Amino acid sequence: MEIRVSLDRPSIAFTILPSMGFFSSTMAWPELLRWADALVTTGLADLGYVYVNIDDCWSHLTRNSEGQLETDPKTFPSGIKALSDYVHAKGLKLGIYSDAGAFTCQVRPGSLFHENDDAELFASWGVDYLKYDNCFNLGIDPKKRYPPMRDALNATGRRIFYSLCEWGVDDPALWAGKVGNSWRTTDDINDTWASMTTIADLNDKWAVYAGPGGWNDPDMLEVGNGGMTYQEYRAHFGIWALMKAPLLIGCDVRNMTAETFEILSNKEVILVNQDPLGVQGRKVYVSGPEGCSQVWAGPLSRHRLVVALWNRCSETITVTAPWEAVGLDSSTSVSHKDVAEDVVSSFSAQVDSHDSHLYIFTPHTSVVSKI
Ligand code: GLA
Repeated sequence: MEIRVSLDRPSIAFTILPSMGFFSSTMAWPELLRWADALVTTGLADLGYVYVNIDDCWSHLTRNSEGQLETDPKTFPSGIKALSDYVHAKGLKLGIYSDAGAFTCQVRPGSLFHENDDAELFASWGVDYLKYDNCFNLGIDPKKRYPPMRDALNATGRRIFYSLCEWGVDDPALWAGKVGNSWRTTDDINDTWASMTTIADLNDKWAVYAGPGGWNDPDMLEVGNGGMTYQEYRAHFGIWALMKAPLLIGCDVRNMTAETFEILSNKEVILVNQDPLGVQGRKVYVSGPEGCSQVWAGPLSRHRLVVALWNRCSETITVTAPWEAVGLDSSTSVSHKDVAEDVVSSFSAQVDSHDSHLYIFTPHTSVVSKI
């Protein structure tokens, strides 16, 4: 039987682009409503952040006597359907969470062996996105545990974005393209420079497996949570966008600083992420001590190119992107809206420690090789 890869699942354009929204763990109902309100009032929803994703702990500790999942009456007394109606009335979409195991990571009931019942329930609630975790998995091969939920979601007839959260344990990039719309490639991110850079490098390895309909997911954005500098958060957002990662905000959108908002609402960076060509940009050139001077790049639609100069060194340096490294013939002349002269053979800029600069270039001759 042919596997349906669900390329018709939802997105903000018609092909499935990386999802954008926010992600919240252990959040109760009234707070979640205010977060949904904030997505709209801040203008983030208009920029494409439309998914409001509930994480672990929304469900009751046990299934009911009919074996169905129920919401935790303390945190979601009105149930998920009421929440979904509220979110939809604002033009947003609702994401929910379950687990391809006996329990979720916080020991609420998992969906393993309950896939059809749970998918039907989620669809009846109007859910648009499912994050499917990997705890308490009974040692069963993920290639056996994740497809049944894909089939169950497809069988509901509702378009539901299927986000696999397998932590990269069994190299999901190699097989999950036939199963879901995104797959976590790594363990959980935390709000530190070390975690963010490690995860960027791990996710980079799987670049060639990403494309419209199925994306590598290096986990949510920590931007705005306080553990990194402004420059580090700028680099985090820029590199996630260039890698075509789902852009799931992980900070409190009701109380963002101006700097946090500026980073998350950068339209040009968002357009890189949502570019219809859907090619994941990669680390293409490293130099300097421990390779801390880095160039990340990838092709965009309309023969354009995105190039990030990322300074991972501990002082300000000049980062150079040689054209061969970004897939251009050295004689190619390239223009950029903020650079007065056309550039030939390489491009350099001074970049603060841990910051990254993102450029969209238009080559005047065609790109000669794929990067
Ligand atoms: C796992 C996932 C996280 C989060 C927690 C919630 O660790 O990888 O993203 O969902 O569970 O319990």
